[in-house]
Amino acid sequence: MPVSDAAGKTRMMQVVYPQHLNHQGNLFGGEALRLMDTAAFVAATRQSRKTMVTVAVEKIDYEAPVRHGEVVEIDASVVNTGRTSVTVEVEMHAEVLLSGERRRCGTGRFVFVAVDEDGHSVALA
Ligand SMILES: CC(C)(COP(=O)(O)OP(=O)(O)OC[C@H]1O[C@@H](n2cnc3c(N)ncnc32)[C@H](O)[C@@H]1OP(=O)(O)O)[C@@H](O)C(=O)NCCC(=O)NCCS
Repeated sequence: MPVSDAAGKTRMMQVVYPQHLNHQGNLFGGEALRLMDTAAFVAATRQSRKTMVTVAVEKIDYEAPVRHGEVVEIDASVVNTGRTSVTVEVEMHAEVLLSGERRRCGTGRFVFVAVDEDGHSVALA
């Protein structure tokens, strides 16, 4: 999945294929969470340039379904840094490629912690 952009920000695209679907033919919520966590992880790591682990998924809202064959676009932005933690907010949009129609389908808020080789939290700088 392509990932782009600068420190503290990430945009990630994924075409919704059959293996991403739930029994209703829409993007499975667990798959959406995986995509959001991945984009947020890259944004947090670009911010810190340290090994980051997810410590909390503070909130996820699924506002509208993403359908088979659409492109799901995830935008992740760092919104806060603490001593060892980085908080990232994520927006998920769906796009119908043939028409260009675009709609917001969800949001999320993730917290990551910088860790050392033993998995203990370390200061960001
Ligand atoms: C990440 C981990 C090392 C932190 O442990 P710790 O150092 O004892 O945690 P602390 O309580 O000292 O908190 C460290 C930072 O995380 C933040 N934090 C901890 N738990 C949090 C939570 N539930 N929600 C939000 N922030 C949290 C703290 O506020 C603190 O931030 P700051 O240093 O910027 O002020 C530990 O919780 C861990 O290993 N978790 C598993 C991580 C993992 O495997 N993730 C993959 C998902 S399965």
